Amino acid sequence: MVNFKDLGLVNTRDLFAKAVKGGYAIPAYNFNNMEQLQAIIQACTETESPLILQVSKGAREYANGTLLRYMAQGAVEYAKEISKNGKAIPIVLHLDHGPDFETCKACIDYGFSSVMIDGSHFPYEENVAITKKVVEYAHAHDVTVEGELGVLAGVEDEVASETHTYTQPDEVEDFVKKTGVDSLAIAIGTSHGAYKFKPGDDPKIRLDILAEIEKRIPGFPIVLHGSSSVPQDLVKIINENGGKLKDAIGIGEDQLREAAKSAVCKINIDSDGRLAMTAAIRKVFAEKPEEFDPRKYLGPARSALKELYIRKNKEVLGSAGHAFDK
Ligand code: G3H
Ligand code: 13P
Ligand code: ZN
Repeated sequence: MVNFKDLGLVNTRDLFAKAVKGGYAIPAYNFNNMEQLQAIIQACTETESPLILQVSKGAREYANGTLLRYMAQGAVEYAKEISKNGKAIPIVLHLDHGPDFETCKACIDYGFSSVMIDGSHFPYEENVAITKKVVEYAHAHDVTVEGELGVLAGVEDEVASETHTYTQPDEVEDFVKKTGVDSLAIAIGTSHGAYKFKPGDDPKIRLDILAEIEKRIPGFPIVLHGSSSVPQDLVKIINENGGKLKDAIGIGEDQLREAAKSAVCKINIDSDGRLAMTAAIRKVFAEKPEEFDPRKYLGPARSALKELYIRKNKEVLGSAGHAFDK
């Protein structure tokens, strides 16, 4: 049993309070390997942004939970090493889409500082019950909890949901009160993966539902999943270099910028990072077919990811410069 504080990590409580007040969102970036972790830490340290490092169930299966936890612990030291003032940016280690109580508990016991319990696929009362159970265990260890109401369409940790169910504003106050969650993920038209809209769709999120939710729980931290924008320049590079991503469409960055100014204080981005790395790797393979040293293609992929996340922090989330806010 390890407590996150001994690893130099922080929970989300203070970070969210500052983000809601300051009108910006904290980046929640997923990682599965060393290059992603390096790029994320470098980007957030250079922009002085607070950071939520996310580990999904799939990431734990791919890379091993123990290894990922030690990597996150190392990331705090690494962040100190590369910072200008010798201080690490605040780093949260968060379980993304926790599927059940046991996984959340295992992560808390492992040193995670924040967990998501994704009960959004259950009927309302079941969602309340499982979320409450996780909150009780987490809070006893000062770990913060994200719950979810409403169902996002798209591929979600091996669970594919065909339909999108918008969060009902009428339910949020009751859910927050009954469960004691620290933040709430909502469904307002974002979705997971690179195919969020079909050609001809109006690719808009429902900022009106967000406003309605904020009225019911003023100042309560809101989370947006599925917030990749699927940059078309990256899709083009991938397709020009042997890829086959047809009609990949994401959320406009202007809309995310708008949402970040509200009580949305955590924005989850994974697919855009995957696209940036894939584009860089495909380019190396197409232009230098003689290369076979993984550093020669993972290095450029890491640089591309870092540049993308620097831009997100500065231009989309508005989190740049807020790491050491009082
Ligand atoms: O929401 C899903 C995240 O992008 C993580 O995806 O389950 O493939 O690791 P994953
Ligand atoms: P994207 O697939 O839009 O990047 O969403 C990531 C996410 O929500 C992780 O929980
Ligand atoms: Zn998600």
